[in-house]
Formats: sequence, C-alpha cells, structure tokens
Amino acid sequence: MCPFWKRVSPDSTLAQEKAILKQVYNSGACGIAFEGGEPLLRNDLVEILAFSRSLPLHTSLITNGTLLESKIYEIAPYINGVVYVSLDGLEETHDAIRGIGGSFRKAVRGIIAAKEKVAVTINTTIMAENIDEIESIVRLAQELGTKISIAIAHEYCNINASSPVTGKTLKIAHRLIEMKRKGYPIVNSIGYLKVMAQEKNWQCKPWTMVNIDPKGNLVLPCYVHNDYASSVSIFENGIKNVVSGFEWKKIENCQKCNLHCYVEPSLVLSRDFRAYMHWAFRVNI
Ligand SMILES: C[S@@+](CC[C@H](N)C(=O)[O-])C[C@H]1O[C@@H](n2cnc3c(N)ncnc32)[C@H](O)[C@@H]1O
Ligand code: SF4
Repeated sequence: MCPFWKRVSPDSTLAQEKAILKQVYNSGACGIAFEGGEPLLRNDLVEILAFSRSLPLHTSLITNGTLLESKIYEIAPYINGVVYVSLDGLEETHDAIRGIGGSFRKAVRGIIAAKEKVAVTINTTIMAENIDEIESIVRLAQELGTKISIAIAHEYCNINASSPVTGKTLKIAHRLIEMKRKGYPIVNSIGYLKVMAQEKNWQCKPWTMVNIDPKGNLVLPCYVHNDYASSVSIFENGIKNVVSGFEWKKIENCQKCNLHCYVEPSLVLSRDFRAYMHWAFRVNI
C-alpha cells in the first residue's frame, strides 16, 4: 500500500498548486499526472486542471474512481491525457485492499461514465493479494473498452524490500506478454514486461520523472528511495537547478524497483529500439 495518505502536512493551496505548475512548465516538462492522495477529493480540482491546460501541460489524472461518476462532467474538459482508474483486483480483493466495501463498484461505474468523455486506462499494481486475478482484470479492461496499465508493487518504506519477485510474478509477466501479443489492451511495452519477467536488463534514469510533494519540494532521486521525503524546495532552487545539481552517480546502477513509470522512459532514453517504437508508434515488438 502507498504511504501518502499518512502525511500529516495540509494540502497545498490553489495558489501554491499554480506556482508549482508554472515551475513545472518552465522547467521544460510537457505533461503532468495529478496523483494524490486522491485528487478528486479536492474541491478546487477543476481550477487546478484548467490552469494546467492553460500553460499548456498535457494533463492526466490518477484516481481511485469512487467519485469519478459524479465529477467526470466537470473535469473532462480539462483532461487531454488519460484518466487512470486504479483497480487492485476483482470486487472482493479490490474492496479488501482499499478497506472500503463498494469501492470496486463505484470505480467501475466511474470508468463507464468517464470513457464516454475521455481516454480511460485501468491502473493495476501486482501485489501478493491480487496476483492470481491479473489475467481476469486484463479481460475486464477489454470488456469495459478501456486500456490497462500494469505495474509491480514496491515497498515504499523499505527500499531493500522492493519489488517482490516470485515464481508467480515471472509467470504472470510471461502471460501478459502473450496477452499483449494477442491484442489485449495492455499499454505497457513488451520491454517492460520482459524487465518484470527478469529477461531484460535496464538502467534507471530516474530524472525522467520529477515528483513534487504538496509543499513544493522535489522528491529525489525518486520516490522509492526515500519514502517520498524531500526537503529541496523548487521555489528556492528551481527544478532545473536541483535536478542538474543532484549527484546521480551515487544511484547510477540502482535497480531496486521495477516501477513502470521509471522503467519505460529509462528504456526509451537508453535507445532501446523496441521500447521507442512502442511509445512513439505503438508497435508491439
Ligand atoms: C498512490 S495511488 C494515488 C492515486 C489514487 N488515490 C488511486 O488510488 O489511484 C496511485 C497508484 O499507486 C498504486 N500503488 C499503491 N501502492 C503501491 C505500491 N506499494 N507499489 C506500487 N504502486 C502502488 C495504486 O495501485 C494506484 O494505482
Ligand atoms: S530503480 Fe530507479 S526508480 Fe527504482 S529505486 Fe532505483 S533509482 Fe529509484
């Protein structure tokens, strides 16, 4: 489970969010995904998304989906990327992991409402609790007419316990490669699935994704390494300065996680031809 909900700090204000977004845009970033916590809980989300689009940043959202059905009409005009809806399993498993009965049904209703307005991708994280249901969730995505993005869980609070690798994980990685080749709507590259299957080497380039906490601090080198803690203010130092001044060499050969959000861009920037063809031209090789 992610630890972000345990943060004691208050949410950022609208003015802070806008200032962060300006910094992000001025640093040369072209896209942003609002993740949270749960972004749909913010009453000023529409203003934040509208500001993001006005910069313009390519704007996406990651949500648990429980409020999506009621809020999609107000947010849809400002999403030109993807709404990612997390499903951690089939109904019983999802509700048990999320700790709230009815979450799965609400998320599925949200997906059905949202896909009429925006691109929707189901976000599923492989964990011990749901590993036997991954194939069924991929089939569900196909039935619902959405795409699905699959990642492997890591232990946020203990870097050395990252990315559980079991025989089952390797097996499901192979199965996902087969399903993708058969045309199931899996958005991950074959390269990423091979990393998951431990059949492909990769070198992490964690600067490809910048994480910013609600106070405007950069999370460096990545959000796996330090339990999402950071103290380097983007307002005092500027994103470009902080990122270029960081001693990346000390984590040069790190492979502590297999999180797709780091693996996929790292493959592309390592000039992995297949990953490049996948992300640039949607070619499954
Ligand atoms: C941190 S949540 C925040 C956004 C939103 N509240 C939600 O539930 O999707 C974003 C994603 O992180 C994933 N996640 C949660 N715990 C994780 C872990 N230990 N390792 C990797 N991903 C995890 C969730 O499955 C979810 O899809
Ligand atoms: S592999 Fe990359 S993203 Fe993962 S923990 Fe190491 S530096 Fe961070």
